[in-house]
Amino acid sequence: MTYSRIIGTGGYLPEKILTNAELEKLVDTSDQWIFERTGIRSRHLAAEDQDTCDLAEEAARRALAAAQCDAHQLDLIIVATTTPDRVFPSTACLLQARLGNHGAMAFDVQAVCSGFLYALSIADKFIKTGTVRRALIVGAEIFSRLVDWTDRSTCVLFGDGAGAVVVEASAEQGILSSHLHADGAYKDLLTVPARVTQGRLNGDGFTKMQGNEVFKFAVRALSRVVDEALTANQLDQSAIDWLVPHQANIRIIAATAKKLKLPMEKVIVTVSGHGNTSAASVPLALDVAVRDGRIQRGQMLLLEAVGGGFTWGAVLVKF
Ligand code: UT7
Repeated sequence: MTYSRIIGTGGYLPEKILTNAELEKLVDTSDQWIFERTGIRSRHLAAEDQDTCDLAEEAARRALAAAQCDAHQLDLIIVATTTPDRVFPSTACLLQARLGNHGAMAFDVQAVCSGFLYALSIADKFIKTGTVRRALIVGAEIFSRLVDWTDRSTCVLFGDGAGAVVVEASAEQGILSSHLHADGAYKDLLTVPARVTQGRLNGDGFTKMQGNEVFKFAVRALSRVVDEALTANQLDQSAIDWLVPHQANIRIIAATAKKLKLPMEKVIVTVSGHGNTSAASVPLALDVAVRDGRIQRGQMLLLEAVGGGFTWGAVLVKF
């Protein structure tokens, strides 16, 4: 049996940090409200001259270095992003050119905050069928550019960043299973409705969210999908060493941990310093905990995410 094994992780956060105190000067909000309702204290923002591909490249180079893998050895590059640099080519092709890889498959995945899990699962399938030996999967976002900085209900939530993993075909256990879902019936609860037509942005280009509805759905969907992942592998909660959740709101994270009967000490939490970085949030959290030594080889990780679409999913990984 061939598995996809994560052999390196990388992350990148832009230098500029925006604190809740600074947000208090922009909109009618408070550090107390933001922290109590979301767990966020600060978020990173890309510089004006940085593009999503710049963030993706930094994270990718760190993951490749950790994996001791040369970009030429990649057969597949996937970038999960909601904020591509161009309508086309894909950010994955832009990244491929930066890395000097010629000929690997390269494409973007758009599943908003669940994008990294979708991309990881796609790479896993290519590896399992023997089509691909090594793949680079990146979640990269400059979500701050989709945010209306006068709308307090959304602008306090998001941040920019990128996370990456290199996965390789292996006889040793790696990705055990992935469980992905979507329901487009919820398309209007979290959306940027604009489109590009005749060279112009047509419609509203800012993030619109019915936060409360998204919150309730997220708690329900994540509870179900983490159960689904455990049941499919005939495991119970005690098998999980680390929950690596999407970092949107500490209250959603805590509800999922509670459902799993996992103490918060077994949950990787970066939301306080990262905010919601959409497709970048899970690989960024993973990279933080791998580099600080909490996540160790051989441990069982449960990754989960939910986002616009709605899309949601979980991936169980023997690290
Ligand atoms: O990544 C994809 C998934 N996205 C998410 O998971 C986000 C899910 N949603 C959430 O995290 C939460 O719903 C929010 C953090 C967005 C909002 O928290 P909430 O507890 O659901 O608050 P709410 O929307 O029910 O608003 C409560 C009050 C309202 O005032 P009134 O109507 O009760 O007077 C809002 O106007 O809080 C007010 N409010 C704020 N006050 C201070 C909303 N935003 C702010 C703010 N500062 N930034």
